[in-house]
Amino acid sequence: MTFRIAPSILSADFARLGEEVKNVIDAGADIIHFDVMDNHYVPNLTIGPLVCEAIRPWTDAPIDVHLMVKPVDRIIPDFAKAGANIITFHPEASEHVDRSLGLIKESGCKAGLVFNPATPLSYLDYVMDKIDMILLMSVNPGYGGQSFIPAVLDKARQARARIDEYTAKTGREIWLEIDGGVKVDNIAEIAAAGVDTFVAGSAIYGKPDYKAVIEQMRAELAR
Ligand code: DX5
Ligand code: ZN
Repeated sequence: MTFRIAPSILSADFARLGEEVKNVIDAGADIIHFDVMDNHYVPNLTIGPLVCEAIRPWTDAPIDVHLMVKPVDRIIPDFAKAGANIITFHPEASEHVDRSLGLIKESGCKAGLVFNPATPLSYLDYVMDKIDMILLMSVNPGYGGQSFIPAVLDKARQARARIDEYTAKTGREIWLEIDGGVKVDNIAEIAAAGVDTFVAGSAIYGKPDYKAVIEQMRAELAR
């Protein structure tokens, strides 16, 4: 399995965001996770398309935009223009999930659905063909630095089974990402549940040596 590490810039130093993006990729990360919060769908207010555009020149790595906003649709083209590569949203925040996924695909980005800890995977039932990534929240969205919710491991196993069945049928790959409370000491257990893409905010940006943390995570994944 190919594993990907996606640092969440939510925990980065916002006064030096370009450098923080570059440094974490130079330290061995694969993807930049970009958390968009609107103080409406979730508490907290973060960053939008202007900031995505501003960091775009700092790396060639994919920018993974996690929309925690309601409504969803009207912000999609702005993020695509700002250089996003992957856009995910919470199905509860969209009136028309299939339409929102279609808008993301039309804009040239990869698309995904995000599942809060208590959101059922049944939202996937009729839209697998439009999905490139499933993102499982292992905390309630809104803040960095929360503790991992262990019940999500069982959900990860269920999502992995759905993906494997779909890939066997179609030959098309879907990534399984997890977000919230991922640390060096739980990443191996999460990978064993079938996750291939790991968002980590405070675990990486909270430490002075990003390379050391990412190396420790990769060593755990290789066990
Ligand atoms: C939470 C965000 C996460 C957050 C993760 O709503 O979606 O991406 O930054 O932070 P940690 O890794 O510190 O739990
Ligand atoms: Zn996120």
